[in-house]
Amino acid sequence: MKKVILAYSGGLDTSCAVQWLKDKGHEVICFIADLGQGEDFERIEKRGLSGGASKVYIKDLRKEFADDFIFPALKAHAIYEGKYLLATALGRPLIAKYLVEVAHKEKASAIAHGCTGKGNDQVRFEVTAQILDSKLEIIAPVRVWEFKSREEEIEYALKKKIPIDVTKKKPYSLDKNLWGVSIESGVLENPWTEPPKDCYQWTNSPEEAPGKPVYLEIELEKGIPKKINGKSYGVLELIDKLCNLGSIHGIGRSDMIENRLVGIKSREIYEAPAGTILYTAHKELEALVLDRELAHYKAGISLKYAELIYYGLWYSKLRRALDKFIEKTQETVSGVVRLKLYKGNCTVVGRKSPYSLYQEKLATYSKGDIFDQKLSEGFIRIFGMPFSRP
Ligand code: ARG
Repeated sequence: MKKVILAYSGGLDTSCAVQWLKDKGHEVICFIADLGQGEDFERIEKRGLSGGASKVYIKDLRKEFADDFIFPALKAHAIYEGKYLLATALGRPLIAKYLVEVAHKEKASAIAHGCTGKGNDQVRFEVTAQILDSKLEIIAPVRVWEFKSREEEIEYALKKKIPIDVTKKKPYSLDKNLWGVSIESGVLENPWTEPPKDCYQWTNSPEEAPGKPVYLEIELEKGIPKKINGKSYGVLELIDKLCNLGSIHGIGRSDMIENRLVGIKSREIYEAPAGTILYTAHKELEALVLDRELAHYKAGISLKYAELIYYGLWYSKLRRALDKFIEKTQETVSGVVRLKLYKGNCTVVGRKSPYSLYQEKLATYSKGDIFDQKLSEGFIRIFGMPFSRP
């Protein structure tokens, strides 16, 4: 008999996993992470206990998620394949870190999760656990159990009296946290099908969004968002406020075919209203304060950083090392960005910073110009020299 710490959500898969692990003779302790998915945690806890778990841990990880995962990704401009702000991918290593921690506290020898064998999340959980404690055994019931369909799972749940919601099949598979929602399966599996209105969880469609734009000012300090319209907010409040405002204006939707780590392409819909607003603000401020070489170099780092998050390599040495680089670039990323939200678009309309490298007297085409245009002739001659024939 092993003691197993299971990443538990209260859904069909993990509820069946509790019983399945018990059938195999194990003691099961459930771990529930609050990453801002907005669930009824007390209800899930009760369900875990009545489903046979010997103990249920619920941990509010929202602040740590924002400070130590979301904001580093924001500062790095980590976006996978140009469209995905990585909400789900960022949450997994954090959950895994606590699975390992609880395993140590409970002297458990194994951890378990409810991921399938086709997705990225199994990789993220397991690689993280491997990095943090390679001795822990990992059990992935869904990958190995005998049920071939959802119906067989429900049948098993009913037979074993596992508490589940036997409503009719949910049309989509969802993963939510405070940074975004990931939506897949059902009719979305046909990449030619336009996402039905009902698949979106948070955002208004641009058509339904208000006909009048809203303006807002985001103030950042060393790359971290601190104020909205001059008012300070705590991290969670700030993200929540932007999530609501962005949702009203239809901000942050994406429809994507992505390359999964396990080699297949999949279609996913994402909503990341707060993330989209904050990435826009952050990028616009960087454009003002980073010099050209640093800005161009950092864009390459962003691609790698996003890939590492997507691949579950959050705790790799490379990600940590890149983080030191990113941190250094943020020293002057302080200032205010003015944005306009209107029918699905988040556009910049103004920016200012005490560290601005923009010099109007050099850029202007009006009076007051101090740019010495005569110098350009020699500059261009020498700049073009390597490319001209003798
Ligand atoms: N494709 C995304 C990723 O790998 C999200 C995975 C979970 N999606 C879901 N709808 N349950 O990060």
